[in-house]
Amino acid sequence: MSVPLLAQVSRSPVAPRRELVQAVVKEAYEKFRTDPNGKNADYIPYLAQVDSKLFGIAVVTTDNQVFTLGDVNYTFSIQSISKVFTLALAMEQLGPDKVFEKIGSEPTGRAFNSPLAVVDMATHTGNPFVNAGAIATTSLISGRDAEDKWNKILGFYSKAAGEKLALIDEVYKSEAATNTGNKALAMLLAKYGRIYADPFESVDIYTKQCSVGVDAIQLARMGATLANNGVNPATGEQVIQREDIPHVLSTMMMAGLYDGSGGWAWHVGLPAKSGVGGGIVAIVPGKGAIVVFAPPLDEAGNSVKAQEVIEYVANKLDFNLYSPASVGLK
Ligand code: DON
Repeated sequence: MSVPLLAQVSRSPVAPRRELVQAVVKEAYEKFRTDPNGKNADYIPYLAQVDSKLFGIAVVTTDNQVFTLGDVNYTFSIQSISKVFTLALAMEQLGPDKVFEKIGSEPTGRAFNSPLAVVDMATHTGNPFVNAGAIATTSLISGRDAEDKWNKILGFYSKAAGEKLALIDEVYKSEAATNTGNKALAMLLAKYGRIYADPFESVDIYTKQCSVGVDAIQLARMGATLANNGVNPATGEQVIQREDIPHVLSTMMMAGLYDGSGGWAWHVGLPAKSGVGGGIVAIVPGKGAIVVFAPPLDEAGNSVKAQEVIEYVANKLDFNLYSPASVGLK
């Protein structure tokens, strides 16, 4: 019996070469290590006191090669990067068409926590990566009760990471005590009929998902799962359905760095997602994921060093998806 060619390929034919990746990651680490720009997020009190010198880079390829440098064992809060995986879980449960209809995928052109976007936009939710759209996406997750929904989310993230993840309780408490803005967004969504479970329960589960702890390696494995058609390259498990991957990645390209997304597409050309904890994950489809963790953020809420490093590595390794060089055309 003949096996289709694609089914015979158990390893990505395009995962990058070891020595080259290692050398470029090291260059980027040295080049940007002392950049003094940016400032830790401080609207969540816990994040203000995280050591702003922490700096780690992890790359995981689709054939499960791992490259690391710096503070890659430090556990930080995943924050908005969680939104990527809750979107994937929502599609798993409801199918992509329902999710698109209920949330949409339009950039807002405003800050990630803007209530104005909720009022102004025809969809009100905007997209799954601004806070309003993300809280609405979390509200789509089904379960017997709030605890069951939360366990489904945490279990799904853990499968993407290839190991058990946990809540950072201090982050959760810090954020839950100060998240009046997100509660306001949820109530606004309720006014427009664009939240699909109890608004405050949804904010609470959303706050928990943002407080999940990851280190750079775990997050890079979650990213590599997206790069590898939804199959975790370490465990071999199909975590995310293959047909959902382009929806996740296109949303990351358009809205992954909030109102820094246009500049990011211009300079880097890779789907990516940032979090105010200081992490950014960038996906190189078919090849792997790059994670940089460094807490100081720019005005839009994106890690300064992470943007610099990923731009440098992507350019040196011809990763930009809009460049024909990314598929070998020189
Ligand atoms: O809801 C919030 O504001 C945070 N838990 C997450 C925001 C975030 O990470 C935006 N990122 N750049």
